[in-house]
Amino acid sequence: MVKPEKFIPEAIEKISKEIKDGRAIIALSGGVDSSVCAELAYRAIGDRLQPIYIDTGLMRKGETERIRHIFSHMNLDIVYAKDKFLAALKGITDPEEKRKAIGETFIRVFEKEARKLAAEYLIQGTIYPDRIESEGGIKSHHNVGGLPSVMDFKQIVEPIADLYKDEVREIAWALQLPDEICERMPFPGPGLAVRVLGEVTEEKLEVVREANFIVEEELLDRFCPWQTFAAILGKGTGVKGDIRAYGWIVAVRAVGSRDGMTAEALELPWDVLKKLEARITSEIPKVARVVYDITPKPPATIEFE
Ligand code: XMP
Repeated sequence: MVKPEKFIPEAIEKISKEIKDGRAIIALSGGVDSSVCAELAYRAIGDRLQPIYIDTGLMRKGETERIRHIFSHMNLDIVYAKDKFLAALKGITDPEEKRKAIGETFIRVFEKEARKLAAEYLIQGTIYPDRIESEGGIKSHHNVGGLPSVMDFKQIVEPIADLYKDEVREIAWALQLPDEICERMPFPGPGLAVRVLGEVTEEKLEVVREANFIVEEELLDRFCPWQTFAAILGKGTGVKGDIRAYGWIVAVRAVGSRDGMTAEALELPWDVLKKLEARITSEIPKVARVVYDITPKPPATIEFE
């Protein structure tokens, strides 16, 4: 297990030495990984770090405003690019194709911003499991191997590339980042797009965003899951009044895990599941059915795509 009192000063010194008097940028998603990297880099090089946050339109409810508030001390550059991402995702149903489209759009948007800033260094929040899973071909994590190949940076700096998720959290606490960052669940780089099976549309995004919000509200504080979320599986038949209606099927996932490599579904009490169903179907009228996923990883993965 990492020792924060040793890791933090060493990481800051390493970043200072690598970047010297240069300028660096980081794509800040607000997740614990990129937040820890941004904070370490900020402590190392101060205002010569420019964090860039891209609002992809695939984020959770209220995310952009939260990030703006938390990182206001860092002169954050916020780029609104929802339309570009939706256009890139149009017609795509394959999960890996989605990741590719999102990754490429992300690179294009980021590249445009980065060129304006003329930074020589790129800081990336890659962690150990990202590297393993990408190398093993399980999933292409879009923060691995994407940006460096297309941009002319002098160097890529990856301060937490050897850490597991729980170790990154230890570092986040020790850096005294806000609780909502330290305790924040992992959220996939491609965002809500991988929680919508099939083509990503504005309607599906609206439904899944609201469902994710309800699931987090009901489960996060009470059960402290390693990760919990909602996904849209497709459409199915329901009844509204006495008329048959075709509505969305929402799956709820809540898992315990150490590092995301394996996971167990939480044994949620029946009354909690009933409340989730009642809230999701009443607060999101376009939903006809709610199911709970009990599959561990393996054989399933944590996300549905
Ligand atoms: P899976 O679904 O592979 O997820 O069991 C393991 C962890 O990784 C997250 N995840 C991703 N993170 N880009 C990311 O940055 C991705 O493409 C991606 N896919 C899954 C997932 O949320 C879980 O925490």
